[in-house]
Amino acid sequence: MKIISFEGFEYSGKSTQIKLLQNYFKKNKIKSTFTREPGGNKQLEKIRKIILQSDFNNLSLILFFFASRFSLLSSMKTNNLVVFDRFFDSTYAYQKITSKDKSLILNLIDQIEKKYIPTITFYFKINKKTLLERKNMRGHKNFFDKKYTSHFTRIQKNYDEIGKMKVGKRKFITIDASKPKEIIHKEIVENLKRCKLIR
Ligand code: TYD
Repeated sequence: MKIISFEGFEYSGKSTQIKLLQNYFKKNKIKSTFTREPGGNKQLEKIRKIILQSDFNNLSLILFFFASRFSLLSSMKTNNLVVFDRFFDSTYAYQKITSKDKSLILNLIDQIEKKYIPTITFYFKINKKTLLERKNMRGHKNFFDKKYTSHFTRIQKNYDEIGKMKVGKRKFITIDASKPKEIIHKEIVENLKRCKLIR
């Protein structure tokens, strides 16, 4: 199993890129499985709804996200290429507030079996101007989106921080989310070829 993960703040264009990659895989007959977090399977999608509408405190959220994550991983039965729409970096980015959170989250990441550590993570880094433009055009997506808007700087900093950490052998690629989507898509495909995830 080879894992690819996509990360980024709301409105970073992450979902658009995942769709483009899905189409590219289809066109080129590359076997793949796409999943998302929280959720990812029938049972966990029910929990997703609850989590994303909750006002659970931060410690509970860390544990809920990881409980859902470990459950998803244990349910995965494919040998395909697996593409994650959000994975453990999201918990570090969104839920790391104190140094206690940091050590808890890093310890939980450490519990993830090696085979599930992504070969490559694409992080879409968005600047505040682009974020506000996109948000003004489309409005808030959900309760979580609204809740974390004011945490933008902290979350961005956390993504940069975990991007510099060694997590197995995974490559963390930061992409400038303000670039045109076709250019970003090309960049992604090139990186996947370079890592020999696709031919
Ligand atoms: P979603 O609608 O999927 O947003 P997006 O399209 O931007 O991915 O909602 C997922 C929300 O859950 C998003 O606000 C980030 C949050 N989240 C965390 O806070 N921690 C986590 O570990 C994960 C997986 C998601």
